[in-house]
Amino acid sequence: MAMSADGKIATANRQLCSFGSSADSAFLYELRSRADAIMTGAATLRAQDADLTSGGAVYQRRRQRRGLAAEPVRVVVSSRGKLNPHLRIFREKGGPLVLLTTKQVRPQDQAALERAGASLGKFGTRSLDLAAALQWLARRWGVRHLHCEGGGELNQSLFESGWVDELYLTVCPRIFGGRQAPGIAEGEGFPSLSAAFRMELRTVRKIGDEIFLRFTRTSSQSYTRSSTAKSETGTVQKPKVVSSRRKRYPSRPKSRARNTDPSVSVTS
Ligand SMILES: NC(=O)c1ccc[n+]([C@@H]2O[C@H](COP(=O)([O-])OP(=O)(O)OC[C@H]3O[C@@H](n4cnc5c(N)ncnc54)[C@H](OP(=O)(O)O)[C@@H]3O)[C@@H](O)[C@H]2O)c1
Repeated sequence: MAMSADGKIATANRQLCSFGSSADSAFLYELRSRADAIMTGAATLRAQDADLTSGGAVYQRRRQRRGLAAEPVRVVVSSRGKLNPHLRIFREKGGPLVLLTTKQVRPQDQAALERAGASLGKFGTRSLDLAAALQWLARRWGVRHLHCEGGGELNQSLFESGWVDELYLTVCPRIFGGRQAPGIAEGEGFPSLSAAFRMELRTVRKIGDEIFLRFTRTSSQSYTRSSTAKSETGTVQKPKVVSSRRKRYPSRPKSRARNTDPSVSVTS
């Protein structure tokens, strides 16, 4: 995530799309080039009209040298599935486009999104069963390393479910202010210090006026929700970080997964 010096990821009116430097932007594409899939929340998609592609031939070659498909799987999260099929993500050529949604999605919206090229995975009735959705991404789409680019709502649900392994944060020399301006993790938030998601600072780099931080989950991090909750489709399993890579997307669903737990990094 790119964050202002006062801890915001957008201005209060949420109109601002990008405020990092060219170094931050290049780093974002470099991080994309390490992941099987790039994920974003519906509000970010609407605000930024992002295409979630690799970034072009240079990054495609990097991906292929790493044994990844030239273009990442593109994943959008929306419980209602109300996305405009004219958004850029539907028009730009890229990896497979997957929508993680719920049974709330209306048949006519589903039909329009499928016509526009999206594959829908429905997990949960009203709220998204994130654990089941991520396991499906691993099983159906071969996603081991999932790179999430926000926004704050989606990030917080990942932190709450304990799936985040790494956080890349760029602190930018701007002050946005605004009590409605979002931060890197929104939602209800953790209720106490002891419940907070804990991370360790691994690297600090200063480039120009920005600071690039990399955090990893502390080894002692407990799973706030997933250790106790049941998913709608079964028990939520504690995720493992898996580094194996596949060259291609699986062509059809597999009935049994060898390992269904993706690793997740949050960045933008
Ligand atoms: N500075 C940065 O690096 C950065 C990065 C990303 C975004 N941003 C900014 O952040 C703002 C958007 O942030 P946000 O927190 O409002 O949005 P967000 O997380 O991108 O999107 C929220 C929406 O995504 C869906 N969603 C997210 N988590 C879900 C879950 N667990 N289950 C089901 N659906 C889920 C819901 O869509 P439905 O309502 O359709 O169900 C929800 O309303 C924008 O201004 C964007 O530009 C900044």
